[in-house]
Amino acid sequence: MVGLVIANWKMHGSRAAATDFVDQWGSLPSVEGVEAVLCPPYPYLALIVGATTDLMLGAQNCAEPAEGAYTGEVSAKMLADMGCRYVIVGHSERRSFYGETDAQVATKAQRIVSAGMTAVVCIGEALADREAGAHEAVVSTQLQCSLQGVSAEGLVVAYEPVWAIGTGQTATPQQAEGMHAVIRTRLCEQYGEAGGGIPIIYGGSVKPGNAAELFCCNNIDGALVGGASLDAKSFWQIASASSVGRT
Ligand code: 13P
Repeated sequence: MVGLVIANWKMHGSRAAATDFVDQWGSLPSVEGVEAVLCPPYPYLALIVGATTDLMLGAQNCAEPAEGAYTGEVSAKMLADMGCRYVIVGHSERRSFYGETDAQVATKAQRIVSAGMTAVVCIGEALADREAGAHEAVVSTQLQCSLQGVSAEGLVVAYEPVWAIGTGQTATPQQAEGMHAVIRTRLCEQYGEAGGGIPIIYGGSVKPGNAAELFCCNNIDGALVGGASLDAKSFWQIASASSVGRT
């Protein structure tokens, strides 16, 4: 499976930062065997798509309805039209700050796939779930409910334990691989053979210094990177770590 590294800039960046990132990325050696995706805030999508690099374009969210009178929203079809290939949905920040439910995540994922893009569906447990030993059950339920009606083709699952996001406290490779193996089993139960081919990527304080040990794990197919993706060099280092053994 090709490695997949996705930069989630969240609500960071500027026109200058987006242009600089693309310039710097273009000056670094290309990374073989890995798909690198940049998900900037909406206003900067057009800057990236116009630049000639091997970075793919992605978005951080999309509207639940297909189109219509929904002031301030951006549809999956519009994102595809702008050249996006990936859209992140169900990020824990959207679930906690905007109350997004599993059912809404599933509808958005269906829109994304129907528009010809790949949905990056995020799931992950809170610290209290893990401390209570309920993390596998919580993640399995989230996964099942967030993927209702979503086809295996055009799907990536991102496991992001909430306690590891932006905290500097990454999951250990054993914790991450343990959960990825559970997710793989659930995907195979839901999709049969096709479940084995759905990429499962890890997110939560991934940095150049810890990427390699995570990517050594059998069921970790890449990373969803927040803070460390704002710098082109560190994102490139993470992408390079993911390319080891894939070419
Ligand atoms: P950090 O890499 O900053 O912990 O963020 C992870 C994340 O939420 C990516 O979607």
